[in-house]
Amino acid sequence: PLVTSKEVLSKAREQGYAVGAFNVFNLESVKAVIAAAEKENAPVMIQVWSGLDTYVGLDVLGAIVQCEAKKAKVPVVLHLDHGMSPEHAAIGIRNGFTSVMIDGSSLPLEDNIAITRDVVRIAHAVGLPVEGEIGHVGGEEGGDNADVDDMIETSIEDAVEFYQRSGVDSLAVSIGTSHGKYNHEPRLNIALLSEIAKQIPIPLVLHGSSYTPEDMIREAIGQGIAKINVATEMSDAIIERTTQAIQQGLQAKYVNDLTYGAYALMTEKIIHKMRLFGSSGKA
Ligand code: 13P
Ligand code: ZN
Ligand code: NA
Repeated sequence: PLVTSKEVLSKAREQGYAVGAFNVFNLESVKAVIAAAEKENAPVMIQVWSGLDTYVGLDVLGAIVQCEAKKAKVPVVLHLDHGMSPEHAAIGIRNGFTSVMIDGSSLPLEDNIAITRDVVRIAHAVGLPVEGEIGHVGGEEGGDNADVDDMIETSIEDAVEFYQRSGVDSLAVSIGTSHGKYNHEPRLNIALLSEIAKQIPIPLVLHGSSYTPEDMIREAIGQGIAKINVATEMSDAIIERTTQAIQQGLQAKYVNDLTYGAYALMTEKIIHKMRLFGSSGKA
C-alpha cells in the first residue's frame, strides 16, 4: 500500500536499520523498485527529484507510483526529492505525494528555518511528513554542476536549532557524502553523525549515497541514519547495461526490448542495497 514516510522511518530509526529511497524517472524504474521491495519484503521509498518536472511532470510520475504502490503488498512511500520552494512542495501535495522534502540547505540558517517552517505548516495540515536539510550535501545534483565541490559539513549547533525550530519529521545531514560520483576519496564523519544522533531523536537522512563504500554505509546506519538516498548508481547501471547490450549486437524488434534487461539489473542492485541497509524482511 501507499503510506507516509512517518510510518516507515520512525520504525527504522527505532530498530536501527535504514529504508532505501530510490529515485525514479519513468514507468520501468518504478516497477523495478517495487519488484525489489516485494521480493525482499522491505518497506521502500520511491522519490521523484523536483527538477524532473520539466521532463516528466510530477503529476504523471506521481500517478504511476500511486497506481503501482496501491497494488503492492509492501509499504511504499511517494516522496518529493529536493523540493526547492513551498510552491514545489504544494505541487507534490496536490499530486498525492505522501512525503515531501524542502531543501533550504543553500540558504543562511534563519532563511532555511523560515522556508522549512512554511512547508511544515502546509504539509502537517494535511497529515504529511516533511524532510529538511541542514549543512549542504554538495556534488552534481541533477547532473548539471559536476565539478562543483560545494559541500558544507553540518554543524551540531545549527542542526539542533534547526530541528527544534523547523518542526521537521526527518533531517538530512551532510557528513561527507556527495551527490553523484565522488571527485575525491569518500570519508564520512561518523563521530559527527553520532553526536548529532544523540541530540536529535528523529530519523536522519543520508543523501548522495551512490558510490559510498559499503562499510561506511553500515557504520552510518548504526548511528541514526534511517533513510538512504540512491540515484546515480541506478541510472549509471541502466545506461551501462543498455550500451553493452547494443554493442554486443542486441537486435531489438520492439523499443522496450532495448531496456528490458537493464531494469532487471536495477531490481538486482536494489535488492543488494536493501540487504545492506537492513530493510529486507521489515515490511
Ligand atoms: P546519489 O546520486 O549520489 O545517489 O544521491 C542521490 C540523492 O541524494 C537524491 O536526493
Ligand atoms: Zn539528494
Ligand atoms: Na554519491
